[in-house]
Amino acid sequence: MTITERDPFDEFNRVMGAGTGVDPYPALAELRREAPIHGPASAPGAAPAAGLFTAYSFDAVSQVLRDDATFSSSLYSQVMGPVMGRSILEMDEPEHHAYRVLLQQAFTRKEMQRWETELVAPVVHRLIDGFVVDGEVDLVRSFHFPFPMTVIAGMMGLPDTLLREFHRLGVELISVSVDMPRATAAAAELGELFGEQLADRRRRIASGTPGDDLISVLAQAEHDGQRLTDDEIFAFLRLLLPAGAETTYRSSGNLMAGLLRNPDQLDALRADRSLLPQAIEEALRWECPLLQIQRMAVRDGEVCGVGVGAGSVIMVMLGAANRDEARWDDPDRFDIFRPARPHVAFASGVHACLGMHLARMETTVAIGALLDRLDGLRLADDEAGAIEGAIFRAPAHLRVVWDA
Ligand code: HEM
Repeated sequence: MTITERDPFDEFNRVMGAGTGVDPYPALAELRREAPIHGPASAPGAAPAAGLFTAYSFDAVSQVLRDDATFSSSLYSQVMGPVMGRSILEMDEPEHHAYRVLLQQAFTRKEMQRWETELVAPVVHRLIDGFVVDGEVDLVRSFHFPFPMTVIAGMMGLPDTLLREFHRLGVELISVSVDMPRATAAAAELGELFGEQLADRRRRIASGTPGDDLISVLAQAEHDGQRLTDDEIFAFLRLLLPAGAETTYRSSGNLMAGLLRNPDQLDALRADRSLLPQAIEEALRWECPLLQIQRMAVRDGEVCGVGVGAGSVIMVMLGAANRDEARWDDPDRFDIFRPARPHVAFASGVHACLGMHLARMETTVAIGALLDRLDGLRLADDEAGAIEGAIFRAPAHLRVVWDA
């Protein structure tokens, strides 16, 4: 079978080792209870020791993320740079701010409203049309997995003829943590694809008929006389696949799994749709799609009273912070009725997720449409809907039935 004929979903699940049943939360809870941050101890009176640190508590994680002058994101240039190109993720201030201001021009409130009605709702309903009469489906395969990538293709204004190819390349790119050579090849192919699209948008801009898609907006974005270079645009477009598509497929699947495994909460949401925003936040807290991110200390710092020497790498455990018992009662329980408190699924500080409003909007439309159209939606069996993964979390499958 050639790569192009492979089913992107099966391929992704195979490469990412889905179905392993891994649950990192008990170990994370034990480590968090031992200390908010773990790492090499400093000798009394000496400079802080450098080495590998891991932040587990909500306070430790928040302190690292807020102190971006000490805890730099530049580490990503080694981890992701070779594949993604130089993206916003690896930039520190003031370069980061200048770049973010340009990118934000593509994510305005007005644009979000247009995407909601013209793009996200049609994509979501088209996918549901494909299985609504069947009475059963694997929601992850047929819905959660394809919808965010199709939305991103639409945001970029890619023609439908490129969609299959884009999905395949996207899946290969987001498998970067387990298959670097393949991801690098996909990144190069995506660079060519984006290059052709950008050239087309520039021609339209030059002829006075600019498009309103994301690539057209980025090609024209300007701040203080500064514009994005082609390579900066390509790096951002590539980043949207892991940052925008993979996370949203996981988070919307986690929410659905949480609801289906807690039918009383699903019933409450069916009866009162105004509960959806708090259900979305609770799912992000309870099962955040990306458990950990990283920073590097560029000078000596301190986190929760612990010295962190310059040159240290800090693993920032968002998942552990989101289940900190000092902040949430019974934190392992999915409970859409718990009092609202900010979580760190989208991180915090200067690098806080640029697409958080888009992700929330997409999830609102997706879950709303499933509830509207699949009466009596429930798990096909008691085993369905287990959420797995040591770093990225999602159900591998979500087999459901409804009254067709
Ligand atoms: C539920 C879904 C999502 C989650 C959980 C999520 C999570 C995150 C996290 C944790 C970061 C910080 C990474 C770091 O600093 O190391 C981040 C950054 C980012 N996210 Fe998201 N994200 C989601 C959806 C999206 C979407 C839909 C988009 C855009 C289409 C997006 C675009 C970005 C970008 C561009 C950044 C980099 C921001 C910066 O460096 O200033 N994300 N996201």
